[in-house]
Amino acid sequence: MQVNCNHLQVGYGDTVIINDMTITIDKKQITSIIGPNGSGKSTVLKAATRLLNYQKGEVIINGRDIRKYKSKELSRYIGVLAQKHSAPADFRVKELVSYGRMPHLKPLSSFSKEDYEIIDKVMKTTGVWHLRDKSIYECSGGETQRVWIATVLAQDPEILFLDEPTTYLDVAHQLEVMQLVKNLNKNTGVGIVMVLHDLGQALEVSDKIIVIKDGKKYSEGTPEEVITPKMLKEVYNVDADVISIAGREKPVIIYKELA
Ligand SMILES: Nc1ncnc2c1ncn2[C@@H]1O[C@H](COP(=O)(O)OP(=O)(O)O)[C@@H](O)[C@H]1O
Ligand SMILES: [Mg+2]
Repeated sequence: MQVNCNHLQVGYGDTVIINDMTITIDKKQITSIIGPNGSGKSTVLKAATRLLNYQKGEVIINGRDIRKYKSKELSRYIGVLAQKHSAPADFRVKELVSYGRMPHLKPLSSFSKEDYEIIDKVMKTTGVWHLRDKSIYECSGGETQRVWIATVLAQDPEILFLDEPTTYLDVAHQLEVMQLVKNLNKNTGVGIVMVLHDLGQALEVSDKIIVIKDGKKYSEGTPEEVITPKMLKEVYNVDADVISIAGREKPVIIYKELA
């Protein structure tokens, strides 16, 4: 299963934000999208998941134009956690997670035993099982993020799109979400597409990184191919080295010392 964005042009009203963007996303991989604030990362993600119409080009999901899918059908292939999301105050964790299962319901029917098994399973794999009877508003930032990921997982999509899943979390909870994403990918084979701010994390977890600058694809490739001093300078305007450390699988970024 693949998601192919071909020559995408996306914007808001008459403005054009994303220009001639061609990217391929493979199931089973972890793909990260990086780039400066306002470069168009969320806009690409929204267009690739039909949260936003595009102006030109095409999005092909599993060989078929995204516009041809019924919502329910599409939800079997892709699940999305947008950058901004909110729940009504009185939702319990297990209710919110079961809400993610709705696309599988037949009209006028209720959840089957299998649906409940899946809902329970995703609450366990995301580590929110012990929170299931709590109100979503009683959960901490890290817990809330895991609950949302569980909700999208209950949908059982083949590829999960997460827009900045770690923003606003402290470093321990950031790493926890990264580990969760990595485990999900490894153990269930679900494809992951994430917008990430932390370049070190992108380097560490990604199979592929797509760099966006000013609404255009600057580069794409393996973390080692993409995260280079040249890219950091040209895209972020920062001076940095990317170095290997003995005993560590992935290189690390060392930013230039402040004056
Ligand atoms: N709903 C919107 N209406 C108009 N312009 C928007 C909207 N959302 C984003 N933009 C603009 O599109 C550009 C890219 O935004 P976005 O895709 O959110 O960037 P990123 O996710 O990389 O920070 C920015 O200039 C932003 O102001
Ligand atoms: Mg964004």
